Amino acid sequence: MIKASDFGNDFSWGVATAATQIEGAAQLYGKGPSIWDTFSARSGKIKKGHKLDIACDFYHRYREDIQLVKLLGFKVFRFSIAWARILPDGRGEVNQEGIRFYHNLIDECLTQGITPCITLYHWDLPQALENEGGWTSFSINAAFNAFVSLCAAEYGDKVKNWLVLNEPFGFTSLGYMLGIHAPGRTGLSNFFPAVLHTAIAQAEGGKILRAEIQGANIGTTYSCSEIIPYTQSDNDLLAAKRVDCLMNRLFVEPAQGLGFPTENWDVLEKFQIEYGTWRLNERMKFDFDFIGLQNYFPLTIKYNAFIPVIQAWEVKAKSRKKPHTAMGWEINADSFYRIIKQFAAYPNIKNLVISENGAAYHDKITDGNIVDAERIEYFELYLSALLKAKKEGINITGYMAWTLMDNFEWAEGFNARFGLVHTDFKTLTRTIKYSGYWWQEFLRN
Ligand code: NOJ
Repeated sequence: MIKASDFGNDFSWGVATAATQIEGAAQLYGKGPSIWDTFSARSGKIKKGHKLDIACDFYHRYREDIQLVKLLGFKVFRFSIAWARILPDGRGEVNQEGIRFYHNLIDECLTQGITPCITLYHWDLPQALENEGGWTSFSINAAFNAFVSLCAAEYGDKVKNWLVLNEPFGFTSLGYMLGIHAPGRTGLSNFFPAVLHTAIAQAEGGKILRAEIQGANIGTTYSCSEIIPYTQSDNDLLAAKRVDCLMNRLFVEPAQGLGFPTENWDVLEKFQIEYGTWRLNERMKFDFDFIGLQNYFPLTIKYNAFIPVIQAWEVKAKSRKKPHTAMGWEINADSFYRIIKQFAAYPNIKNLVISENGAAYHDKITDGNIVDAERIEYFELYLSALLKAKKEGINITGYMAWTLMDNFEWAEGFNARFGLVHTDFKTLTRTIKYSGYWWQEFLRN
């Protein structure tokens, strides 16, 4: 049986969350609206019309929830700062009540012996900034930098572990290209400028933290998926390469000073020419102390001439009769191992942390228990793959499970349950799942 001590005593074990998904108090205590407040209020955008006003009510219950983190045995708690809670208009006037909330949360972590790890941006742009164009507008960079400076000045003495962005490809593609996440915009004319300003923000955020916080350990996160061509045909191989450019390489390469990838793909070449992105290569570069990888599934990709821009299509796990989670995401721990190796191969990446990994299942409470054996098996498989990569000498120094408790899973609302702790969204009662107890045992050994 795999155990935490197999990873060595210095390995850090954490559990990850994000403000919008857990906090609630969305319109209270001086917080301004975020794009997710606006988006979730639009009909048809979130499954079953779920709203954000209460979510897990973490804002009021953070003390008990930090107790849960402690009880499960995690030593690191990753959370994000809701930009609009501390800067209701995105810039300018500071909401002191919001500032205090994160001080209290950090203090509580420290008192309980838990190391806080802050994500600066986990997808909840202040609506006031979206009204100016959001990530598509050049003005976002100055606003983001001011937000980072404020956070560094407030919390930098107490918090040393920082993540600049959460999954930049996730929020630019889903929010600005496909329109299925906030702010719900579509098309390349939104996606490309959003990508460019996000890549700048990623590096400039890192530089500000470096300048303003002594001893900071600075990272940023990437969603990543091994891209598997459906067949070995030229068409499928090229389609897989295009998807790899977007899903795995788009943000990590500019951070290393390599600029955006093209892979001789006219769409990305056009983007670089139109926006003159190479002139910004230096600005988009930052030497991160560590890179956070977030992996959930691989993608099997087939050429499809009818799909605009990418001409590629995912062949779903279900149709290939492969094991998958309640999200339909393929369970494939070997692909986790391989994508870690893909990122570790960049010469400038010094250190990797798995900043998210986990699975959603249709958990049921039976006699007060949640016997989520599938989730336990998922973690066993994925942690074994991680250990294999580590034993081969890849510098992986931490792992954070997604997520502490069932929460607001973006467009899926409260329907997708990823937690180690079950949340009853009517009573807000928390119940530790068997997978939570599994973690407790795993971390004890
Ligand atoms: C990545 C995101 O960072 C997180 O917010 C989300 O809930 C998980 N993936 C699961 O989809």
